Amino acid sequence: MKVDVILGLQWGDEGKGKIVDALAPAYDIIARFQGGPNAGHTIIFNERKFVLHTVPSGIFRREITNVIGNGVVLDPVIFCKEIDAVVDAGFNPVDNLIISGNCHLIMPSHRLLDAISEAAMGDRKIGSTLKGIGPTYTDKYARKGLRAGAVALPDFETQYQIRKEQHFDYIRLTGADTSQFRFDGLSFDEYEKLWFEAIAKLKKFRIVATEVFLNNALKEGKRVLSEGAQGTLLDIDFGSYPFVTSSNTTTGGVCTGLGIAPQHVGKVFGIFKAYCTRVGNGPFPTELNNDMGELIRKNGNEFGSTTGRPRRTGWLDLPALRYAIMINGVTDLVMTKADVLTGLETIQLCNAYKCADKEYSMPELVIENSCEPINQSMKGWSEDISKVDSIDSLPLEMKQYLNFIEMEVGVVVSCVSTGPDRNQIIKI
Ligand code: GDP
Ligand code: IMO
Ligand code: MG
Repeated sequence: MKVDVILGLQWGDEGKGKIVDALAPAYDIIARFQGGPNAGHTIIFNERKFVLHTVPSGIFRREITNVIGNGVVLDPVIFCKEIDAVVDAGFNPVDNLIISGNCHLIMPSHRLLDAISEAAMGDRKIGSTLKGIGPTYTDKYARKGLRAGAVALPDFETQYQIRKEQHFDYIRLTGADTSQFRFDGLSFDEYEKLWFEAIAKLKKFRIVATEVFLNNALKEGKRVLSEGAQGTLLDIDFGSYPFVTSSNTTTGGVCTGLGIAPQHVGKVFGIFKAYCTRVGNGPFPTELNNDMGELIRKNGNEFGSTTGRPRRTGWLDLPALRYAIMINGVTDLVMTKADVLTGLETIQLCNAYKCADKEYSMPELVIENSCEPINQSMKGWSEDISKVDSIDSLPLEMKQYLNFIEMEVGVVVSCVSTGPDRNQIIKI
C-alpha cells in the first residue's frame, strides 16, 4: 500500500485538520510528520469544535491509529491539554495514539529561547508562535536534543538538566531579563513544574519505533494518510525564508519525518484556500491592506487557531500555487473556504508576478514583496453554497473559478469544502 499525503499549499491554516478528519474514514492510520504545537488544526462535528496542535486529526475516529512521527516536536504540556480535551469528549486516545521515540521534546527553556530571540529581533522578527519550535529543531540538528524515547531512561532528569543549563549559559550571554517572559500566563518555574507532570502522563502512551510500525502496516495492506502542518510557503527550504518555520512542510518531509521510502508515497492532496492568508511576518504579494481584506478576514473568521492573531488576507496567488504543486508533486487539489467569497461581485486572483519589468508565472528564488501581482478579475456568485452537496449544484461562477484554477495550474480539484463542518464537503 501507499502513504497518501495531505498538506498545505499556502502559508498554513488552509483547513488541513478539517480535510484530514473528513477523509479519515478511508484510512487505517493518520500520521503527523513534522511541526509541533505551532500548528492549530480545527475540527468541527456534532456542533463541537476542537483545535489540535500535536495530536493527529484522526483521533476522533476510534478505529484509526494515530501516529506522532519522528519529525514532530512535542511539548508535553500542550500535548496533555489536547489529550484532556479529547478525553472530555468521550474518546480514549491512549488506545489509538502512538508516539515516535525519536520525536524531539520541546523544553520550557526552548520556549524561553524562542521568546528571547524574537524580542531581540525587533522589527525583523519572524512573528513566531513562540512555542519553542525553532530552538527545538536547532538542538535536533546540533545533535543536542532530548527525545521522547528518553523519558523511560533512569537518567532522564539529568539529561534534561544538562540541556537546560546549556540553554541558560547561552541566555546569560545575551543578557536577557528572563523574568519578563510568561508561558501561557505562567512563570518559567511554574511551567517547568507542569512540564514534569506532563512527562509523567506522556509515559502512559506507547512510545515506539513508529517507522517500523508504519512500514509493517504498509506491508499488511493498511492505508496510511500523513498529515502535514503549516504550509509549503513556510517550508524551511522552499518557503519565504527567513519568514518560515523550522521544518520541511512539503512532501519530502513525509519520508524523513515518518521513515517512509519515496516509492511508498501515493496521492498528494494539496489543500488551498480560495484566497490567501498569512499569520506572522514576511512577504505576501497579493495582500489586501484595505476594506476588502478586512471583509475577507471577517467573513472567513481569519484569526489564528493557535495564537488568536488576526490573519493577513489577500487574493489567491496562482504563481505561488504552481510552485507549491511542483515542489510537492500534488496529484489532487482540495479547495477550502470558497463560501467565504460568496456575495462578492468580482473576485480577483493573481496569475503572474511582475518583478523588475519581467513577468513570472512562478516565483524564482524567494517570493519578495517587490513582486507586483498581475491580477485578473472574475465574476463572483451570490448563492449560499454551505449546503450544496454536488459539484453540479454549485453556482456557475464558482465552477468557472474552479475550472480556471485547474486549467492554470494543471491539476484537478478533487474535493471542495463548503464550510467548517466535517460533513460540508463535496468529493468530485
Ligand atoms: P489548518 O491549520 O490548515 O488545519 O486550518 P485552521 O484550522 O487553522 O484554519 C482553518 C479555519 O477555517 C478553521 O476555523 C476551520 O474550521 C475553518 N474551515 C475549514 N474549511 C472551511 C470551509 O470550507 N469554509 C469555512 N467557512 N471555514 C472552513
Ligand atoms: P497550521 O498547521 C499558520 C507561522 C508563524 C510564523 C512562522 C514561524 O495550523 O497551518 P514558528 O512558531 O514555527 O516559529 O513560526 O510560521 N506558522 C503558522 N502559520 N499556520 C500554522 O500552522 C503555522 N505554524 C507556524 O505565524 O510566521
Ligand atoms: Mg491552523
